[in-house]
Amino acid sequence: MYFPIFRSRRLRATEQHRRMIRETRLSIDDLIYPMFVVHGRGVRNEIASMPGVAQLSVDLLVKEAQEVYNLGIPAVILFGIPRHKDARASEVYAKNGIVQQAVRAVKDKVPELLVVTDLCLCEYTDHGHCGVVKGHKVLNDPSLELLAKGAITQAQAGADMVAPSDMMDGRVGAIREALDQSGFEQTPILSYAAKFASGFYGPFRDAAGSTPQFGDRKSYQMDPPNAREALREIEMDIQEGADIVMVKPALAYLDIIRLARERFNHPLAAYNVSGEYAMVKAAAQKGWVNEDQVVYEILTGIKRAGADLILTYFAKDVARKMRR
Ligand code: PBG
Repeated sequence: MYFPIFRSRRLRATEQHRRMIRETRLSIDDLIYPMFVVHGRGVRNEIASMPGVAQLSVDLLVKEAQEVYNLGIPAVILFGIPRHKDARASEVYAKNGIVQQAVRAVKDKVPELLVVTDLCLCEYTDHGHCGVVKGHKVLNDPSLELLAKGAITQAQAGADMVAPSDMMDGRVGAIREALDQSGFEQTPILSYAAKFASGFYGPFRDAAGSTPQFGDRKSYQMDPPNAREALREIEMDIQEGADIVMVKPALAYLDIIRLARERFNHPLAAYNVSGEYAMVKAAAQKGWVNEDQVVYEILTGIKRAGADLILTYFAKDVARKMRR
């Protein structure tokens, strides 16, 4: 009805026009790079399903953290692979646990890089669940104590932010209280607030060795069809003291990101998870999609949906491109 008075193509004519008109801009400032740390020295275990991502021992992790910082990425999130797994997830709260060692080393050598620590029991339990198990039940409240202890030793090691990813009820409140009582009232909590029971975590479980030995995570992670429940989860975490709330995964949940952005005024993060990464890498390796182009579209789409921060295994690639 407006045509021919109005022609959309006028403002698409050149890259200069498009630059001026662009509504969403991805920035290096938005990115958090996930890293996996293992015991040992000189260890680099490539993860087959996540090309370009590896489990690194602390010495190599520090080098890569330096590279991440030099690329201008503000933060990393660390996942630990312990030496021993047991029923009580003891290495998650050990003073000299693998993540605690890694945090100390990175903060020593690359002090300005923000170090976020993922906080969950699943990498540390022999059964691979995110909580304490009795029979085949994952218990909620006993798990909170272990998470709270983990938050304290991570903060003592120098973590700039702790990120609970377990989906036990009440864990943000329990962690907040524990941190406050231990003198870490200034340590923020990035909560995996709306985390869905997703098939997109497959490659991560290879990377972190955290596949549950029985059952699945559906009794604690969210049921994928639920959007209103996701908003309730986010609201509860905010009430319990979360400083940043996260939606995870990102791509199949862009509507949740948008709803959360409209509803809440807290900083919002989204996790572009391992399966989302693996799909792009696999298709690109086959020559079926142009990797740079689809990565840009995916991350811009996550931001356009409303995310302020994006946790992504593509962070280094993107930062390299943007600096050119
Ligand atoms: C641990 C945790 C998971 C991820 C982050 N923290 C896996 C899971 O819940 O099974 C997934 C990250 C990814 O797939 O990239 N609770």
